Amino acid sequence: MKKHDVIIACDFPTGQDALDFLSQFKEEKPFVKIGMELFYGEGPDIVKAIKDRGHNIFLDLKLHDIPNTVNKAMRNLARLGVDMTNVHAAGTIDMMRAALEGLAEGADSERALLIAVTQLTSTSQERMQRELLIQAPINDTIVQYARNAKEAGLDGVVCSPLEAGMVKEACGTDFVTVTPGVRFADGAKGDQVRVTTPARAAEIGTDYIVVGRPITEAADPVGAYRRCVKEFMMQ
Ligand code: C5P
Repeated sequence: MKKHDVIIACDFPTGQDALDFLSQFKEEKPFVKIGMELFYGEGPDIVKAIKDRGHNIFLDLKLHDIPNTVNKAMRNLARLGVDMTNVHAAGTIDMMRAALEGLAEGADSERALLIAVTQLTSTSQERMQRELLIQAPINDTIVQYARNAKEAGLDGVVCSPLEAGMVKEACGTDFVTVTPGVRFADGAKGDQVRVTTPARAAEIGTDYIVVGRPITEAADPVGAYRRCVKEFMMQ
């Protein structure tokens, strides 16, 4: 698996829609993110179907429960042969360690990369302080959660491209960052607020960019994917 890649967010309502979309790719086999909508709608079979077509898979289910439950769930996800998956860092270092152990124990061969979600980009500093009673500045919590993930032995974190630099500074360049919120310079932002281009994400040092609508809703998805790879890999 490449350590620097474009991951297409396959946010489709049905498995058939996702498979039809991926059928357009004849020459390359893009890395694919499967999220909650597709997984809960279609079950593990959609992971196997996409995997059988030769794609690497990031299964984005953001597990967060007691360590024992997360450990057992991760064993089952490992058996699906996913290449990357994630947990919420808010589950604590013990939970992240248990997740990592489960992932390693359930894997047939190489363990999948395990990435932690720090603060969701939908959580504002104001809500974090008022509703969750976390008084630290949000960027401090992101760096602290990333440090916790590293201490638990995880491979990296999901974060916004604008946070990737500070995460690398705190946890080292080998600590993987996976970043959504990527848009072409001349493209629509949709509901994403803090966005960056593929080239800028590469400059900041992001390892993987997760790109959905700029590719899935493009008139020419294969062309948009190739453009994204070119701009991201050029740096
Ligand atoms: O279509 P778009 O490029 O905005 O898709 C981004 C993908 O990354 C979506 O699957 C979205 O759920 C996910 N994501 C995000 N922001 C986060 C975490 C995940 O956009 N903070």
